[in-house]
Amino acid sequence: MAEFTAPDGYGLVLLDQVDSTNSEAARLLASGATDPTWIVAKEQLAGRGRRGRDWASTPGNLYSSLLLFTDRSLGDAATLSFVVALALRDAIVDISQDLAERVTLKWPNDVLVDGKKVAGILLESGNKIEAGAHPVIIGCGVNCTHHPASTRYPATNLAAAGAIRQPFELFNVYAANFDRWYNKWAAKDGFDNVRTSWLNHAAGKGKPITARFGTSEIEGRFETLDEKGRLILVDSNNKKIPITAGDIFFSGADKPPQSSTSR
Ligand code: BTN
Repeated sequence: MAEFTAPDGYGLVLLDQVDSTNSEAARLLASGATDPTWIVAKEQLAGRGRRGRDWASTPGNLYSSLLLFTDRSLGDAATLSFVVALALRDAIVDISQDLAERVTLKWPNDVLVDGKKVAGILLESGNKIEAGAHPVIIGCGVNCTHHPASTRYPATNLAAAGAIRQPFELFNVYAANFDRWYNKWAAKDGFDNVRTSWLNHAAGKGKPITARFGTSEIEGRFETLDEKGRLILVDSNNKKIPITAGDIFFSGADKPPQSSTSR
C-alpha cells in the first residue's frame, strides 16, 4: 500500500486488515499518541457505522480514520463531520469533474452521488488528554469499487458512477482536501465558512423531509443548517425545530422499516 500518502504534518498507519480503523485510532490514542495520524485499512472485520450499525468493509473501498487533536470544545468538534463531507466532495470532483453537479451532501454526514450514498462519516471523541486538546476520531468509509446490496438508504459506488478509482487515489486527494478545509474550520469563525459551503451542496434543502429518531418521526421542510450544525426543520405549524441527531428521508424516497440496523 505504498501509494497512500498523507499531507505534511500527519502520520500515516497502513493496515491490511483491522477490526475498525476508528478502534485502531482509539488504541493509538490510549497508547499515548499526540500527533494527528491517519489510519487506513484495506479491510475491516468489524467496521461500524452511525447509531451502532454495521459497515460492511471488504477490500476495494476506502476505510480511513483520522486521529486529530483540537483546542475547540467538543460541541464545535462535532462540526468537523461537515469538514470531512466537503473534503470528500472536493476529492471526488477533483478526480472526476463530470461529477461536480452530481455529488451532494446529506445531513448529518453522508456524501451522495446521483442521490445515492457513496460515503459515510463516523465521528467519535476521546477524553481530553491535556489542557485544551480534545482528541477526535474521524472515520470515513467510501464505496470506491463496490457497495452493499441492501441498505436502508440507496447506495452506489464511484466506479458505478463513472469514476473508477482505487482507494489510495481517492485517499490522497481527500487527505489533502481535508487539511485545506480543516485549516479554514480552525480559523476564527471557521464553521461559518464551512456551513455556507456545505449548504451550497446540501441535498434536499428547502424540500419536504422526514426526520426519524428511533421509533418517532417529524415531518417538515428542511430550511437550513444552524451555527451548531443542527438541521432546522420547519413543521406544518411553521415551528422551527432544530434536529441534533437522527436519520433524514426525502419525500418520495422509500423509508426502511424502523427496526432496520443495516447501513
Ligand atoms: C455511517 O454510518 O454512514 C458512517 C460509516 C463510517 C464507516 C467508516 S469506515 C472507516 C471507519 N471505521 C469504522 O469502523 N467506521 C468508519
